[in-house]
Amino acid sequence: MTLRVLTGITTTGTLHLGNYVGAVRRAIAASREPGVESFFFMADYHALIKCDEPARIEASRLQIAATWLAAGLDTSRVVFYRQSDIPEIPELTWLLTCVTSKGQMNRAHAYKASVDANVAAGEDPDAGITMGLYSYPILMAADILMFNAHRVPVGKDQVQHIEMARDVAQRFNHLFGGGQDFFVLPEASIDEEMELLPGLDGRKMSKSYDNVIPLFEGGAKALREAISRIVTDSRLPGEPKETEGSHLVQIYDAFATPAQRQAFRAALHGGLSWGEAKEQLFALIDAEIGPMRARYDALMANPEKIEEILMAGAQRARAIAAPLLARARESVGLRRFQPLAAPVAQAVKAKSTVPAFKQYREADGLFYFKLLAADGTLLLQSTGLSQGKEAGQWVSRLKREGAAALAEAPVSREAGDDVLLPALEALLAAEQEAAAAKG
Ligand code: TRP
Repeated sequence: MTLRVLTGITTTGTLHLGNYVGAVRRAIAASREPGVESFFFMADYHALIKCDEPARIEASRLQIAATWLAAGLDTSRVVFYRQSDIPEIPELTWLLTCVTSKGQMNRAHAYKASVDANVAAGEDPDAGITMGLYSYPILMAADILMFNAHRVPVGKDQVQHIEMARDVAQRFNHLFGGGQDFFVLPEASIDEEMELLPGLDGRKMSKSYDNVIPLFEGGAKALREAISRIVTDSRLPGEPKETEGSHLVQIYDAFATPAQRQAFRAALHGGLSWGEAKEQLFALIDAEIGPMRARYDALMANPEKIEEILMAGAQRARAIAAPLLARARESVGLRRFQPLAAPVAQAVKAKSTVPAFKQYREADGLFYFKLLAADGTLLLQSTGLSQGKEAGQWVSRLKREGAAALAEAPVSREAGDDVLLPALEALLAAEQEAAAAKG
């Protein structure tokens, strides 16, 4: 099974050197690993939630696309596209919106933070809050579920959104999966060691701190100028410098080989001036990004080239998205007209009041099962089992023996006995009924 890795970049603003080290360079390296199928896209619908300036939206998506391509994204390996070129995504968003609980969206951090800020300012709690912001996590769930991604590399602030995507997927699977899992349940991957590049003043590099080193913008001149503004201590040329805890050294390290790191430290301990050290730092960074900057400038001068690459990416993405959406429409009942299979009343009644087992496989390769109440509430959750057969055997045993098999089964109880026991009872009854019907 190839692992599907998917991530989106909201296209507001441009990328700085910290984004390059922390996200772009790593993602490109990861996409070259064997056995991985990568999807990278520009979340330009998400950008509209944060920005109502068309010119900025236009510039940012072009600049960010050019940045990724210039940095070496291999579009023959990676499916690279703009979210807004995939009409299936907003369509799936609606299907998901209809199974997403409003209460859960009320708890989304980004929305809550805006409400809290309004309340603190004595404003109406919803002042300035759009439905776009409110529904942001559902659009993001559609981005991920559309391609059945297993793994989603994101920053810590996005983890809640991935959990919401899992919940929405689970709910959809339960309601419309017909006993099978329609959507893969995605997992966030946050790299604990994620290199966070410090900014000019030593705090995390961020536009909001106004301490960024630009990546391509302004050319080599702007890069040199920003580096000259890195804050250091006031030791004079010739004086030994402290390298431990120096953010200038930390930035150097992000671009250096182990041998270069050692030599740089030795030179500083030996009295290298900060000015000279900054010259060396500039040379080091420019050696890596200079050639990319040349490609970036060439791409920015030929936007139609980027357009072509992205349209090809969209075509590949839609070849996956369109069949999935067609199945999703079908499964919710948006079907081609045909003679109805069964009288509707009966079909509605047949909609089960009995709990149901679900069996599935996770990205960890293990087999799981769980018991869901008729309304989708989780009642039992198994541990991961190495054999699919084993999961199947436990499911049939729990069906046949009900609560009696509970003590031995590799499951955790997710509901109180007052809910769990009647559910198992109902299951047992249904099983016996089915057996009797078969004769
Ligand atoms: N919300 C993400 C961010 O701000 C961007 C994003 C949109 C995304 N859709 C996504 C990330 C899907 C991963 C998967 O960083």
